[in-house]
Amino acid sequence: MDLDQYREESLETWDRFAANWDQQRRYLWEKTHPVSEAMVERLDPQPGDTVLELASGTGETSFLIAERVGEDGRVISTDFAPGMVGAARRRGEELGLSNLEHRVLDAEKMDLDDSSVDGVVARFGYMLMADPAAALAETRRVLRGGRRLSFAVWAGPERNMWAAVPGMVLVEAGHMPPPEPGAPGIFGMADPNRMRELVTGAGFGEPSIDEVPVVWGYVDAAEHWEKTNKLAAPIAEAVNALPPEEQERVRATVAERVEQLLAGDGSGINGMTYVVVAE
Ligand SMILES: C[S@@+](CC[C@H](N)C(=O)[O-])C[C@H]1O[C@@H](n2cnc3c(N)ncnc32)[C@H](O)[C@@H]1O
Repeated sequence: MDLDQYREESLETWDRFAANWDQQRRYLWEKTHPVSEAMVERLDPQPGDTVLELASGTGETSFLIAERVGEDGRVISTDFAPGMVGAARRRGEELGLSNLEHRVLDAEKMDLDDSSVDGVVARFGYMLMADPAAALAETRRVLRGGRRLSFAVWAGPERNMWAAVPGMVLVEAGHMPPPEPGAPGIFGMADPNRMRELVTGAGFGEPSIDEVPVVWGYVDAAEHWEKTNKLAAPIAEAVNALPPEEQERVRATVAERVEQLLAGDGSGINGMTYVVVAE
């Protein structure tokens, strides 16, 4: 994989998907807030702390932390996509949060001083980065000694069929290359051993890992398709690049498999995340 090309395309894609994420923020928060709450609980920010959020998207996790660090604290909410930062800034202003700072910042090369923050969070970010080892080393650099990093990544495809099914259908039809082990992507840090190596390799101690489920609760395959195409940017990009009749074929195959997973209690389509904490 050409990582420079990946970086450029990833930035362009996420910036374009910022409008969808902004529009879907309430839905997404309703489904995923337990992940952010687990991350923040394990980070345990104190009043007066300065906390950095990386890859913050539309900023919901930053808003949660802003309440915890209080008036004397500060949250630096960042993302490399200006569209995401703009969406987070607008919402932060609507909420009247005065202890938030919004910045465009690439987690792989942070424009921040050494030992300048008391905590770092990143939800569903590191595994998408071209060089997560560089991003984790940068995280270690800006974090004050003894303070915590708390982040979330998706567990493996077998526990995240909502994303694995469209991915598998696209690969089977030859519209997407099979994922390369260790390459950036939704399952890029799903192997706990690789994740541990990346975290300790960046100078952190042994991480603690908790599993936190995401219950999507799709009513039918049509809802799964709609939400996946609005939010799962890399999958949506691959689908959108296809001619309409091929998009329809992919949609129908995905729908067939999703309907099977929705049968019974529907739990087969839910998601699983790892919430990881290291000092
Ligand atoms: C799946 S979204 C998650 C957004 C948000 N953290 C959430 O959980 O709702 C991934 C985010 O990572 C950002 N991102 C990807 N690579 C990045 C990088 N190298 N530096 C900073 N942000 C990055 C994207 O712009 C996007 O907003």
